[in-house]
Amino acid sequence: MREALESLRTEALAATEAADQLEVLRDLKVKYLGKKGELTSVLRGMGKLSAEERPVIGSLANEIRSQLEEALKTKETHLEELQLDEKIREEKLDVSLPGIVNPIGAAHPLAAVIEEIEDIFVGMGFEVVEGPEVETDQFNFEMLNIPKDHPARDMQDTFYITDDILLRTHTSAAQIRTMLEKGGNTAVRIISPGKVYRRDDDDATHSHQFTQIEGLVVDKGVSMSELNGVLLTFIEKIFGAGTEMRLRPSYFPFTEPSVEVDIYHPEKEWVEILGAGMVHPNVLAKAGYNPERYTGFAFGIGIERIAMLKYNIDDIRHFYQNDLRFLKQFRSV
Ligand code: PHE
Repeated sequence: MREALESLRTEALAATEAADQLEVLRDLKVKYLGKKGELTSVLRGMGKLSAEERPVIGSLANEIRSQLEEALKTKETHLEELQLDEKIREEKLDVSLPGIVNPIGAAHPLAAVIEEIEDIFVGMGFEVVEGPEVETDQFNFEMLNIPKDHPARDMQDTFYITDDILLRTHTSAAQIRTMLEKGGNTAVRIISPGKVYRRDDDDATHSHQFTQIEGLVVDKGVSMSELNGVLLTFIEKIFGAGTEMRLRPSYFPFTEPSVEVDIYHPEKEWVEILGAGMVHPNVLAKAGYNPERYTGFAFGIGIERIAMLKYNIDDIRHFYQNDLRFLKQFRSV
């Protein structure tokens, strides 16, 4: 019995020493010291011993039990410390490592200019509305006083989807949509930004797709002088106080009288930036407004032209090529 206990001691201590994981220790504890463990089963044979031998073996068994408990405990503490060290090493934060720089984007210059213009007009009580880029011949031409055989169609040749559906050539189609929506007896004060299309050969100043902002005011007693005031306010806000503006008589089928509006640019002198005029009585009537009671003015601003003058851009194609070297220059805009 003594030998059995001694070899159990040797085996158990060696196994404890060799254990490299806490789970292994837990198993050893059960294996040797548990209720159904090996030490218990050896001691179960004590009954067969003589009266002299019993206390000797008993104390040996107790000694082995506490020695083993001690060894397991020591090993457990040691393994726990290792585990903690490992965890600390894994979670260590090196504050001297370079950070991860997330590139910050910027609004496209056209989007930034549209937003700036919207803010200016919203400040003057205008509402922002949007119209579709795929438009009907009816809204893009007919109802704007440009019938099928009108010579003005030559200047606004476009891309046709069917005979009657096309890519809009100007945001003026939004005038018609808005007036029809307002129903003929409510005042209108809107701007409408968006893309427009024309069959043009692309070069430094022309593009088959470009951007406009339409403006429309319809009410009782709206006058040309109010148009003048609104445009001058806009121009001074976008190009700086004191910027000079000039109206030149022009022609659009949907306005009468019509003007083209230039601003004075220190290097380029007089530059055209928009077309405008008093809404033609035919247009008001077709869109449900009685021209005897209502008058209105409209304007169409070329966004690329504004952005090119404001930021000294010499080629309209820069806006559409998505060259980061160009776009990055507008980060702070
Ligand atoms: N739609 C005209 C164009 O694209 C501009 C314009 C708008 C002129 C509104 C007068 C009034 O050339």
